[in-house]
Amino acid sequence: MKCRTVGVYSTKGGVGKTTSAVNLAFLAAREGYSTLLWDLDTQGSATFYCQQRAKVKGGVKKLIHKKTDISKVVKGTAYDNLSMIPSDTSVRKLDLFVNEMKNSKKALKRVLKDLKQEFDLIFLDSPPGMSVLSESIFYAADVLMVPTIPSTLSIRTLETLDEQYASLELEQNQIIPFFNLVDLRKKMHREILEIYAQDPRFLSSFIPNASIVEQMGFRQAPLLSFNRASKASKRYLELWAEFGRRAGI
Ligand SMILES: Nc1ncnc2c1ncn2[C@@H]1O[C@H](COP(=O)(O)OP(=O)(O)OP(=O)(O)O)[C@@H](O)[C@H]1O
Ligand SMILES: [Mg+2]
Repeated sequence: MKCRTVGVYSTKGGVGKTTSAVNLAFLAAREGYSTLLWDLDTQGSATFYCQQRAKVKGGVKKLIHKKTDISKVVKGTAYDNLSMIPSDTSVRKLDLFVNEMKNSKKALKRVLKDLKQEFDLIFLDSPPGMSVLSESIFYAADVLMVPTIPSTLSIRTLETLDEQYASLELEQNQIIPFFNLVDLRKKMHREILEIYAQDPRFLSSFIPNASIVEQMGFRQAPLLSFNRASKASKRYLELWAEFGRRAGI
């Protein structure tokens, strides 16, 4: 199978990038895909959820400059088929390193080239914001998955992303938004979901705002590893199936 890279991205913070990246990477691995999750956020939340230590041998700078043997920074997790590159405090300088490099936008893509030989799927958990690193993620990813809270501001963020994206002349990839943290008791959420039900770009599966999802923090584990029966777990399964069809996985 040709490796596919999925960037989980939004300029907005707290929309569920990490939660989605961890859960979908877990589901992909469980289905038998050899999967890598790369925590590109200095907050290290994905690293925490997967019970890894935040440390990349030699630092991310060497990794980006291809001076580290990539196989040494890839760690196994407690789950079959799921490996990860943990976050590292030096990730906070990642923007600077990438910026310093010639053809910086393609830096991440170059590093991923070697990893693509080894994995079927690579999930990139992005930090929020718009930076050189985010541009680098756009170039590296085959698809960009964008968790979106149903609010006017989030929709606006998505439109801005479209504009930025259009100016980059990317060869490949598509933006795949979906709704997260949905609360159907809220009129605004219902209305926005109804409007975007007509938009072929949004996945029709969405993830409700559910407290069981927050338990990932206590458990330090992907939701589906400790709970299969909740509504939220079922929604993640639907989301993964629909996303897979859309992204050609
Ligand atoms: N569907 C959900 N239901 C309830 N809580 C959720 C859901 N999705 C995410 N959360 C919670 O919302 C918070 C933010 O989620 P997450 O860390 O995944 O967002 P993020 O976009 O990665 O944030 P950041 O921009 O800081 O990296 C976390 O506490 C997480 O547990
Ligand atoms: Mg995050």
